[in-house]
Amino acid sequence: MNDATTNSPNHETPETPPMEPGREIKVWDLLVRLGHWTLVIAFTIAWLTGEEESALHIWSGYIIAGVVALRLCWGVVGTRHARFSDFVRGPRAVFAYLRGLAAGTAPRYLGHNPAGGAMTVLLLVALAVTTVSGMMVYAIEENAGPLAGFVASTDAPSPALGLVPMALADDDEEENGHRVHEEEGEELWEEIHEVAANLCLALIILHILGVIASSLAHHENLPRAMVTGRKRAEN
Ligand code: HEM
Ligand code: HEM
Repeated sequence: MNDATTNSPNHETPETPPMEPGREIKVWDLLVRLGHWTLVIAFTIAWLTGEEESALHIWSGYIIAGVVALRLCWGVVGTRHARFSDFVRGPRAVFAYLRGLAAGTAPRYLGHNPAGGAMTVLLLVALAVTTVSGMMVYAIEENAGPLAGFVASTDAPSPALGLVPMALADDDEEENGHRVHEEEGEELWEEIHEVAANLCLALIILHILGVIASSLAHHENLPRAMVTGRKRAEN
């Protein structure tokens, strides 16, 4: 087996020539690449339209949810470097890589390095929480979207949905019990949605800084590899 196709660090010789246009091998499959750049475009749109609750916001959010769901499945059954088993490492490996990056000694990986792998998981989880909480807000406010069936409809909660009437039972004595509860739920989900969206943005900024740092450290253009799918085989 060719050692360069594994995701263990490629051990460098001290005189490694930078940016040598040597042999390239396929690392990122089409789904990973298309998914990535779709996320970049859709997240930008969702972020910029957040204040309006427009169709554009809702649909860019759905696209993100779809890409994330597909990517989570692909992480189990996908191609070699797309699999979580290829790049999810423990915190020790992540911090060792980050220390190496700061010291200029970090080894190069063909797939995600341990920090990139951790960021991938964090981004996917944060995006999932953002989209699901957005769908909850949409369901509560507009009684629309895929989660509308899971939350109370405005004044007449369906007895078939055990969840909501149980929650309202606590408020039986309140004159306007139903309304109070809905507003509480709405506020909570709005808060979760907003915090999760901000967390995504913070992670994305760190992600881009990490991509720049690793690109410099290993003398390679990682964003280009996310476009072509190919990386140089040798160090
Ligand atoms: C909305 C903004 C972004 C999001 C949500 C995002 C998300 C992600 C995710 C989820 C991955 C993991 C890919 C996978 O395994 O499927 C990833 C990897 C990657 N992203 Fe982004 N990304 C964003 C912006 C960018 C930008 C602007 C660049 C270019 C500067 C970039 C460059 C990369 C690269 C090079 C990788 C592969 C990292 C590696 O080699 O380990 N990303 N990104
Ligand atoms: C990653 C994807 C998403 C991002 C980055 C995002 C971001 C945001 C932001 C920043 C806001 C403004 C929050 C505030 O200041 O109150 C917002 C509001 C909202 N979003 Fe999203 N969102 C996403 C996905 C979704 C989805 C999938 C839905 C529903 C299907 C959705 C529904 C809503 C609704 C209904 C509001 C208005 C909340 C309110 O009334 O304050 N979002 N979103």
